[in-house]
Amino acid sequence: MKLFIDSADIEEIKQAVDTGIVDGVTTNPSLLAKSKIARQNKLSVHDYYEKICALVGGDVSAEVIATDYSAMVEEGRELANISPNIVVKVPMTQAGIKAIGTLKEAGIRTNCTLIFSVSQALLAAKAGAFYISPFIGRLDDAGQIGNGMQLVEQICDVVGYYGFTTQVLAASIRSLQHVEQCAEVGADVATCPYGVLEAMFKHPLTDTGLKKFLSDYAEAKD
Ligand code: G3P
Repeated sequence: MKLFIDSADIEEIKQAVDTGIVDGVTTNPSLLAKSKIARQNKLSVHDYYEKICALVGGDVSAEVIATDYSAMVEEGRELANISPNIVVKVPMTQAGIKAIGTLKEAGIRTNCTLIFSVSQALLAAKAGAFYISPFIGRLDDAGQIGNGMQLVEQICDVVGYYGFTTQVLAASIRSLQHVEQCAEVGADVATCPYGVLEAMFKHPLTDTGLKKFLSDYAEAKD
């Protein structure tokens, strides 16, 4: 399973990439709005994406703001021109699905975002989205804990059953358990906030085990 960082914070992205385990980045307009560096340096959004692309070897999802079909396609083309790393993030709407088809014909990869049902995932896969992004945490927030993961599993099954080439990119990840369950059900990618990526390295038994090894070695030396 590929691991992406879900962030638009340059420092956080740099730190995550530095660990050597990050395969890509997903951003969204809310994450961009939170990014202090973008606001302080008053960079254009395109220049900001260029900066992010320069930090990672893998895919960087950049979202269109337009909501009508033609404007989405135009904006998608502009975003894709920034770098070959860019994957154009398109919301799951009727216009979005049509735009995904057109962008695919133009050789532009897309990430269909804001997916909350198997039907939506099926439509995005049929339209030719390169990635489809079910939102785990937000689905749990709106209903019952566990609904988000169940959806990821159902989508993985449907994609596998019909042999769609689309990759399931699990988003809105809030915990270590979410990432682990994504790996168990066969999601292609999990995009995680920095804190979750950091938590993946840790286990209390690793800490106590290492402490003991080091103290035993110090004793063995004397
Ligand atoms: O990038 C989209 C997604 O990961 C958003 O997560 O935590 O805002 O629901 P969240």
